[in-house]
Amino acid sequence: MNLVEKIGGKARGEAFSLFFSAIRVWPGGSFRPGRDEGGRIVQQESGLFRYGLLLLAGALLPLSPVCAQENPPLEERLQLCAGCHNPDGNSTIPENPKLAGMDAGYIARQLADFKSGKRKSPVMSEIIGMVSEKEFDALAAYYSKKKPTPGAAADAKLAALGKTIFDEGIVGSAVPACSGCHEEDGRGTDKYPRLAGQHSPYTIQQMMNFKSGERDNDSRSVMRAVAKRMNEQEIRAVAEYIATLTGSDP
Ligand code: HEC
Ligand code: HEC
Repeated sequence: MNLVEKIGGKARGEAFSLFFSAIRVWPGGSFRPGRDEGGRIVQQESGLFRYGLLLLAGALLPLSPVCAQENPPLEERLQLCAGCHNPDGNSTIPENPKLAGMDAGYIARQLADFKSGKRKSPVMSEIIGMVSEKEFDALAAYYSKKKPTPGAAADAKLAALGKTIFDEGIVGSAVPACSGCHEEDGRGTDKYPRLAGQHSPYTIQQMMNFKSGERDNDSRSVMRAVAKRMNEQEIRAVAEYIATLTGSDP
């Protein structure tokens, strides 16, 4: 299937697909942002993408009312996210969180926090600059309905220690059981995000960010209070266990 066939046929019309294909094969390649060796977003491509959208809007405005919208259709927008989070939201890069099966309200709130700078991330702040607030709910709904893939533990002994922390907390240092909020199987609720099956490097990073206060978008400092009472070894252990949880289907 060539690009025109892939994008066309979705009630967008031939002109649209041809035009979009032309943008995608613009010199410089795909508009999906890449990362250089340092993990930073490659800038020029996002500029190119914006340029492409401007052209698209300008050229197609007179052709059809559907093209008068300022935001790209969801399918096109999802391609941007898929580069890092995979098409079904089950990222395979351990630093990029899995989004599949997470609560839609949580996802939309994180996107808003990246946008406002309330949650800081060099990667996501760049990306979200290209996305309008109006797109957040549709993106969140899409990922919340995807089936999460299970993770796996590399270190069973560490995961066993993590299970105790997850289920019972750490009495000596007043760490509450994670299961008390995130549910026993880590599936989460509409108030507490799903953790089950998440990549351990991502979980470790978030816990360290809560601990240092670098991530401070948790209301009433709930997670900062939890993470501050844990040492790195305990964080690694609980993250290892979280990766093994399957959670029930959302
Ligand atoms: C270049 C890679 C990249 C792209 C493209 C990208 N993300 Fe991300 N995303 C990340 C990384 C890395 C994080 C972790 C940020 C942090 O350190 O807090 C993240 C975090 C998130 C989170 C927070 C998840 C959580 O569990 O709290 C959401 C939601 C999210 N991304 C949605 C999206 C959406 C929607 C798109 C497309 C518009 C997108 N991302 C595009 C790399 C990317
Ligand atoms: C009192 C309730 C509560 C307890 C107990 C709790 N959490 Fe949380 N946790 C939250 C809330 C609320 C958030 C969402 C913060 C936000 O909105 O950004 C969260 C977010 C997280 C995140 C970020 C998820 C993501 O996708 O970025 C991780 C990781 C996490 N918790 C791990 C844990 C671990 C591990 C424990 C046990 C040691 C634990 N939590 C105990 C309430 C709790």
